[in-house]
Amino acid sequence: MIGGTGTIGAACAQALVEREHSVVVASRSFKDVKSSPEEADLEARLAVDITDPVSVSALAQHITTHFLPLDVVILTAGGAEAEPLHCGADHAAERLARITRMTAVHVGGTVLVGSAFLPLLALRRGIFIVITSRAASRHDPRVLSYAAAKAAQEHAVATFAGEWAQHGIDVFCVAPGKVSGPLLRALAPDAGGTALRPADVADAVCDLIATRPGTGTKITLRARHLPEREQLLADRCEGGRG
Ligand SMILES: NC(=O)c1ccc[n+]([C@@H]2O[C@H](COP(=O)([O-])OP(=O)(O)OC[C@H]3O[C@@H](n4cnc5c(N)ncnc54)[C@H](OP(=O)(O)O)[C@@H]3O)[C@@H](O)[C@H]2O)c1
Repeated sequence: MIGGTGTIGAACAQALVEREHSVVVASRSFKDVKSSPEEADLEARLAVDITDPVSVSALAQHITTHFLPLDVVILTAGGAEAEPLHCGADHAAERLARITRMTAVHVGGTVLVGSAFLPLLALRRGIFIVITSRAASRHDPRVLSYAAAKAAQEHAVATFAGEWAQHGIDVFCVAPGKVSGPLLRALAPDAGGTALRPADVADAVCDLIATRPGTGTKITLRARHLPEREQLLADRCEGGRG
């Protein structure tokens, strides 16, 4: 569970532990890749910065040495930054810096994690789940950099889905709308009433692991609506051919 200390990551880790999976969580907060578990229910808490290739590769190496077999990698790391409205030319440098940060964590991080863990998942015909966002398919100037990075992240995930089908790995996106927690409070303080609970996202993740509905499936979650499914692979890279 990469990003397992965050709002959605912690809920997913807890839900998986409750379903008797062995869970390793990782994020930047831990001291080093060899940290030991502080919570009895978790196998381990490990350090990783998904924007750093050396750190991602050290995590994959540590998992290879200590925690195989690995069945599922869930990537829920990353944050959002609000965008000031009416940005003029004088804000261009600030804007470029923001989009560079968002792209590094959501797109670069997804590609680094996917590439490092492909060999381990291939050993078990495993599952790769990435938490994207409904923001990827909506136009909102208040989160332009974040939403653009999430759209590119979905594209990267769809490409992996096509490429990895030959290894028997199933690749999924879960795209929540607003989820209550600190990230939402920072971006949209008034949205709490219509937000999903982190546990709703965790349920969708557990469902995917239990049912494996077909590689490239995207589950969109909206508050008070049933999850919707679509095929991310459509017209893009089905079976690696497109
Ligand atoms: N909350 C929402 O409303 C919402 C809605 C749709 C989609 N999402 C998506 O869901 C994911 C998680 O959101 P959240 O609300 O759970 O956010 P969160 O509470 O801010 O948690 C983010 C997690 O990512 C980790 N992280 C951040 N940068 C990292 C890096 N470079 N390397 C490794 N770990 C890193 C953080 O831990 P450290 O600080 O220890 O690294 C933390 O565990 C994000 O991808 C977000 O885009 C959220």
